[in-house]
Amino acid sequence: MNYETLKWEQKGAVGYLTLSRPKALNALNAKVFQELDHCLSSLDNRSLRILIVQGAGDKAFVAGADIKEMSGLNAKEAEEFSKTGQKVFSLLEALPFPVIAVIQGFALGGGLELALACDILLLEENSKVGLPEVTLGLFPSFGGTQRLARAVGFYKAKEMIFSGNFYTAQEAYSMGLVNFALPKEKLMSQAEELSKIFQKRGPLAIAQAKQLIQKSYSLSLETALQLEAQEFGRLFDKQDSQEGMKAFIEKRPPQFKGN
Ligand code: CAA
Repeated sequence: MNYETLKWEQKGAVGYLTLSRPKALNALNAKVFQELDHCLSSLDNRSLRILIVQGAGDKAFVAGADIKEMSGLNAKEAEEFSKTGQKVFSLLEALPFPVIAVIQGFALGGGLELALACDILLLEENSKVGLPEVTLGLFPSFGGTQRLARAVGFYKAKEMIFSGNFYTAQEAYSMGLVNFALPKEKLMSQAEELSKIFQKRGPLAIAQAKQLIQKSYSLSLETALQLEAQEFGRLFDKQDSQEGMKAFIEKRPPQFKGN
């Protein structure tokens, strides 16, 4: 896949997606969303087990929506831009395998919203994150008002969104916004270490667990528990669960095949 604003590479079962507009700190414009939409919609979900998302260069993961392009939009176009961002980030969130955001440098506005649609967030220890949209007279609208509150709770989300302040990696880690805050040299090795662990586990089980965790946003506890039991039962019809339990009993590593 050849793109103007993205780089795509697959090594074995791991996909590497790099947002690449370094001169604009990888800001999200219409072209980026168009290419992200295409890339995420055409992934080979059978051969991929992990996606790692990163930004090109040291300075930014993504510095948000492209303010220069966005400043020319009228109200209707801005609503469409918001819907496009929401749709693309929902596509990312719905991928049936773990998505790891490797964040180095600024993850601001739409950049942090992109990270919030990933499953695991790794932050370089000198990075800064925040939702500075209010400094532009705007608010986060690629899902940020919803996903941030779910990640860190209402009060911290309101503080971040109302202030527009930048937060250090340590602050982000302390509020539970990221899984790890790490020195630069450990960032990618930690992502790859996690990838290796996830790849050893049952892919169907991870996909179902991911979907169920996501559904907890919108379903009542009662409905979600019913669904959890149903999906758990369905896994018992699959070879992977039989293999996983058999391997445990036979004291050997399981050979999961994703079916
Ligand atoms: N959009 C467009 N261009 C951007 C950009 C953005 N979000 N962020 C940075 N750039 C560009 C700059 O304009 C500059 O380009 P030029 O040299 O051509 O002017 C280049 O990237 C380098 O940036 P700076 O010179 O500003 O670098 P710095 O080190 O002084 O500051 C920064 C870095 C603190 C990240 C600063 O660039 C900044 O504050 N960027 C904007 C962050 C922001 O407000 N993001 C939220 C956007 S709104 C949003 O995301 C909406 C939404 O949710 C729907």
